[in-house]
Amino acid sequence: VHQAWLPPEAFRAIGARRALVLGDGPLAGTVRDELAQACARYGGSVRPGGDLASADGGPYDLVLAAGAGESLPAVAAAVRAEVRSLGAEIGGEGFVLARRDGVTVVLADEPAGLLYGLFHLVRLGEAAFEDTIAVEHHRPALRLRMLDHWDNVDVHPVMGQVERGYAGGSIFWRDGALRDDLRRVRAYARLLAACGINAVAVNNVNVHTTEARLLTDRLGDVAAIAGELRPYGIRVHLSVDFAAPVTLGGASTADPLDEDVRTWWAETTERVYDTIPDFGGYVVKADSEGRPGPFAYGRSHADGANMLAEALAPFGGVVHWRAFVYDHRQDWRDRSTDRARAAHDHFAPLDGLFGDNVILQVKHGPIDFQPREPVSPVIAAMPATRVAVELQVTQEYTGQQRHVCYLAPMWSEVLGFRLSGPAGPSVAQIAGGAAAHHGRAAHGAAAANGAVSNGAVSNGAVSNGVAELDGTAQTYGGGGLVGVSNVGDDDFWTGHPLAQANLYAFGRLAWAPDADPAAILDEWIGLTFPAFPPDMTGGPDRPRSVLHAIMDDSWRTYERYTAPLGVGFMVRPGHHYGPDVDGYEYTPWGTYHFADRDGVGVDRTRATGTGYTGQYPEPWSQVYESIERCPDEVLLFFHHVPYGHVLHSGSTVIQHIYDTHFAGVEEVVRAQALWAGLAGAGSVPPALHARVADLLDEQLRCAREWRDQVNTYFFRKSGVPDAHGRRIW
Ligand code: GCU
Repeated sequence: VHQAWLPPEAFRAIGARRALVLGDGPLAGTVRDELAQACARYGGSVRPGGDLASADGGPYDLVLAAGAGESLPAVAAAVRAEVRSLGAEIGGEGFVLARRDGVTVVLADEPAGLLYGLFHLVRLGEAAFEDTIAVEHHRPALRLRMLDHWDNVDVHPVMGQVERGYAGGSIFWRDGALRDDLRRVRAYARLLAACGINAVAVNNVNVHTTEARLLTDRLGDVAAIAGELRPYGIRVHLSVDFAAPVTLGGASTADPLDEDVRTWWAETTERVYDTIPDFGGYVVKADSEGRPGPFAYGRSHADGANMLAEALAPFGGVVHWRAFVYDHRQDWRDRSTDRARAAHDHFAPLDGLFGDNVILQVKHGPIDFQPREPVSPVIAAMPATRVAVELQVTQEYTGQQRHVCYLAPMWSEVLGFRLSGPAGPSVAQIAGGAAAHHGRAAHGAAAANGAVSNGAVSNGAVSNGVAELDGTAQTYGGGGLVGVSNVGDDDFWTGHPLAQANLYAFGRLAWAPDADPAAILDEWIGLTFPAFPPDMTGGPDRPRSVLHAIMDDSWRTYERYTAPLGVGFMVRPGHHYGPDVDGYEYTPWGTYHFADRDGVGVDRTRATGTGYTGQYPEPWSQVYESIERCPDEVLLFFHHVPYGHVLHSGSTVIQHIYDTHFAGVEEVVRAQALWAGLAGAGSVPPALHARVADLLDEQLRCAREWRDQVNTYFFRKSGVPDAHGRRIW
């Protein structure tokens, strides 16, 4: 199995040092074990126990200390005193990194901070031991950084084992049971901790019969997984079936207001916590795509969510209630129903009605993880609700891990987007708990007042942005960031080896949403390919810059050769791979483009369309409403326009379609040539090189298919030829 971003070489710098680890509990133990392994390989030493009294024995090159111990070695005590004198809290999962008298010091309030500090040292490598290091304060901008696995225990007849999975079978389940050997799960936990993830839901949100029982008689399986994840600071969550009192408990109803139903959930949840005391909570897909939910009993989503929240509250658990609720049986002739509106229509009126431990989990866009969507207006519409933003790391609509598509630039745009204009909070701030003076600041990172000392760095959009919120009435509880995992039992974890970068970047952005996607990619390259020369600026023949050239802009390349200008879909129905322009056009799924001989796009305006633009606060409500002001990249999401409509770019819609589709394919051709140039260079392992080369062949084939089907389709509809006379079929 490939080591992903934690090959042994990544531990060379810390493994060659004399280290002291102070702190109690299993996470401090993990840090000690990690260091001991690294030292065994690279000649360093780690002082074992947490015996504070004998701690001053030195000398050390590296001290990691959690808690407020009074017998810290002098250098660490000095850093601790400085942090204290500034009145700064390091914060639960945070850490301070400093360099004093030739010793690198990592201080944390709690052992989790030590763990994240350790992996920060791994990222820094030798740079962690340079005297130029300033005091740095790191703490996560988002408290909950979670991956949802859409894994089934059984192999589903249509969806396979991992629904929308492109990397083989599940790492948890095999042949209808928990895997015997869970070492892979432990290795996964380690990778996740190294990029900052702290929660995992182990089964598909579509909870089928076998999987429903993970909550009850198969709970032992979940406990075993929890045992593997725990040493790396990751809590386990479970997707549950809303109808479980009926399907598992034999009751006649799952009505959330029924006393027996409430008792069933309370007792069942108590048993879960008896077995897994640090269990994270439930994930629920209710009244969505045929899943059961409170609507069947005339109850609201708040009734449903609160009932589960009440069962979890005594144990500190949360319920992630998904907002992906829409009519999936609509009539394509019905022009008044708009799927984009659905989540806001259902949930915005419920703001303020959810319990404190309910997290409303909202997809980043209003439809379904398309390569380009506007940001969901639900995210800003519920200031009295804890909102989590859901991203899709698995590449269902972005090339299914056969295409190179580095998604961090898209996520970064989403996380930085300010739904109510420049003075309002960003999406990351809302998900992180952007509260100024009022209300529920305790839930989030509102107090992330960065600087610890002169030259201190606080990395997190939230800390920088909080000040801007002063004086606004709105507060947000903060639900965190959730990604649908792209991992399977494939040797490279993610099918496409370069798709590992998406998993890594997801974690890093959940920790620091304002981090630069290219810098995250560079970090990932440095860790994953230790044989690469270290400089990022090397000439075009350097492997590192080749990878940047292939990956940095690959999301936009993918966008160019697929559905144009934000209109979305145009994929093969069912599996969603490859082009099929009209594949969904006359289906019940609510995903239409309405192309005719004159134009294309969905009129979602208030003036003449579905009124969806009215779900946005100002200024976006006005911007999206206006054909003139609407950004090109989402024009067809909001407007139906003639093919001759001139974009801000100066091109017409039809010429833009042709140009981008030709360009996108050319970019894949270039990527293929660049990658071929890395063959035999010694810095890319041959098996990895071969896997990517094969996948690039498939990407090019598929991109050509997209180009030709989309271009031909619009040429036939419009009759407008390509201005450059290129071949359209
Ligand atoms: C998409 C995906 C489904 C998934 C659903 C969800 O529609 O195709 O497989 O179940 O999202 O998020 O619940």
